[in-house]
Amino acid sequence: MPAIIVVGAQWGDEGKGRVVDDLAREVHIVARYNGGDNAGHTVVALGHTLRLHLVPSGILHPHVTCLIGAGVVVNPVQLAAELDELAALGVDVSPERVKLAAAAHIILPTHRALDGARESARGREAIGTTRRGIGPVYADKAARVGLRAGQMADPEAFGERVRALVQAHNRLLQEHYGLEPLPVDETVAESVALARRLRPHLTDGSELVARALAAGQTVLCEGAQGTLLDLDHGTYPYVTSSSCVAGGALTGLGFGPQAVARVIGVAKAYTTRVGAGPFPTELTDAIGDRIRQAGGEYGTTTGRPRRCGWLDLPILRYAAQINGLTELALTKLDVLTGIQPLKVAVAYERGGERIERFPGEWGAEEVARWQPVYEELPGWTEEIRSARRWEDLPEAARAYVERIEEAVGVPVTLIGVGPEREEVVRRG
Ligand code: GDP
Ligand code: IMO
Ligand code: MG
Repeated sequence: MPAIIVVGAQWGDEGKGRVVDDLAREVHIVARYNGGDNAGHTVVALGHTLRLHLVPSGILHPHVTCLIGAGVVVNPVQLAAELDELAALGVDVSPERVKLAAAAHIILPTHRALDGARESARGREAIGTTRRGIGPVYADKAARVGLRAGQMADPEAFGERVRALVQAHNRLLQEHYGLEPLPVDETVAESVALARRLRPHLTDGSELVARALAAGQTVLCEGAQGTLLDLDHGTYPYVTSSSCVAGGALTGLGFGPQAVARVIGVAKAYTTRVGAGPFPTELTDAIGDRIRQAGGEYGTTTGRPRRCGWLDLPILRYAAQINGLTELALTKLDVLTGIQPLKVAVAYERGGERIERFPGEWGAEEVARWQPVYEELPGWTEEIRSARRWEDLPEAARAYVERIEEAVGVPVTLIGVGPEREEVVRRG
């Protein structure tokens, strides 16, 4: 009856999509538990490169049921487009396979407009959001004025609720931000059409999960974003607006902690971040450029260049603690090939004071006050994309992985050596 949680251990884009695709071979349900189409999860398999924003990353495995859970915020335009794209590739996206929890909240065009307006108003302190309406929709959810997917069961009544919320948002856009309102009738008509389209996918998400667990099936919980983008535990306010951490799987899907058998933290072999906010090990030099090129570090959702830097071990320890990681999946080890020497942050310092703990709980300003303390490790020059067994990896690459295990206190059970489904080394 186990649940397995896959959670980002850094600032997102760690390769959760590919790890979920890998694990999905052996599970019954893959369920997304947080975030919205700010996420971009890449799966490279069967000749396809899927960039999934809402549909769970188990979709290429025909035996898997995919659930978009209660904790997710859904832009119906994006969901419909994604289902169309997958169907065009011959993937079964029927309502029997792709389920949408009734309690998930709905993103409207005005949420996106408000996201943009708030970002512009912040000026130099902009968060660098994906402008997908994530902050505003979770704010409406917390304020108890949001729309829920289950309301799409009655498309006409849903349309009227959309009308009222769009009108309220329009007043904000006009009066507070001095912007043009969005067209009300068109938005209502589009929402009604989308409700008709998506209605067959609606389900009681927590019941689906409960039934699966009771039947002894495995539920793979797919997180979006990462621990340092978590609303509570990330580098606030440079975070997203949902619970990205493992605990978010329980609230976002609606099941209890005793079902959790494994918590897998996904981490890159280095660190990246999209958008603003502190990033202690950031490299703004030629090595950073090299990692960006070799790793194709451009945002899956927005195409923005990702900021790149050395691996930060205090961050991984923090992630291990907050999520209760039982293991790590380390992706993109191949990208470090040829960099000599490699550096990893092992602690932080400020004016002679040294700390081992990532000060994330204190927020962005405090994190920015500390400098990383580095340790150098030997690099390797051998191509590793063809490695499939631990023994196939060069000694320096194995030592790099072992240093991580030692510092974090969690075993690395999967190593990504390339983006393709087959390009992994499994351990343990
Ligand atoms: P996610 O949001 O955590 O699912 O990650 P993204 O899909 O946004 O970004 C990860 C990127 O790295 C994608 O382009 C993947 O295809 C790619 N990727 C994942 N694992 C590996 C790996 O082991 N090696 C290389 N070179 N690329 C990888
Ligand atoms: P996946 O699931 C990386 C970042 C944005 C911005 C901050 C807030 O693919 O790992 P938001 O639009 O959520 O209000 O933006 O969070 N961000 C991500 N960065 N990967 C993601 O998702 C992200 N989703 C949001 O760049 O800094
Ligand atoms: Mg991504």
